[in-house]
Amino acid sequence: MVQAAGAPIGVFDSGIGGLSVLRALAAELPREDFVYFADTGHAPYGERGDPYVVERSHAILDALVREHGIKALVVACNTATAAAIHLLREAYPDLPLVGVEPALKPAAVLTCTGRVAVFATRGTLSSTKFATLHASLKGQADFVLQACDGLATAIERCDDAQVRSLCDTYVRAAGDFGTGPGQIDTLVLGCTHYPFAQEEIRAHAGAGVRLVETGEPVARQARRLLEAAGLLKPPPAKGKITLLTTGSQAQLASAAQRWLP
Ligand code: DGL
Repeated sequence: MVQAAGAPIGVFDSGIGGLSVLRALAAELPREDFVYFADTGHAPYGERGDPYVVERSHAILDALVREHGIKALVVACNTATAAAIHLLREAYPDLPLVGVEPALKPAAVLTCTGRVAVFATRGTLSSTKFATLHASLKGQADFVLQACDGLATAIERCDDAQVRSLCDTYVRAAGDFGTGPGQIDTLVLGCTHYPFAQEEIRAHAGAGVRLVETGEPVARQARRLLEAAGLLKPPPAKGKITLLTTGSQAQLASAAQRWLP
């Protein structure tokens, strides 16, 4: 399989969450074309189990290669990265692939109290990939893991009342937030949907708590991989974004209008 520098970059998520990664990608790589695939018809991934997420990830990547000739893929979903990225790499060994994982390493550096909350899907938190990451940081910070069932779905549906109520529930369940000794001062947004609920999370956790997401480091990693492969789109060029979904095209377009610059 030969990739062309003028081809688009594929980006996918179970729904609109990956738009939080796409906005960082478009800022870092403004000349590139992106094909964004929101698998809303099969969401949420986080509460469905690995075989389902693996099957969907393969189907989406196959379609992006076949129908759009993508030159690289960004898996803009923590749950799909944890369940499937190693299998996608095996299936397409020549395709540059970037995944996302909860930003535990940066959070361990940023925390002053040594206590960090990690909000993610049940699928991400129960994965082997996450267990390995967590174990590698043993002793560097105390991580409080909080599975946020239903939160990605509420964000997807723009159900603001449910988003507010779930943020309240999960912030309370995680423990005591603040900047004092023993308090949680840093919160990792370990699902790409959650940056779209950050105001609600902040309203419950307190203004002093630092929220950490992964869009920008992922975008920088994508640039590095494309550069190394000689696949950056040459100037002059202005990138365009194509939106695809297994759900409602109108809803995805309105989410993109709301969340992309
Ligand atoms: N946005 C996805 C993630 O980063 C998953 C949301 C879901 O479908 O459960 O994990």
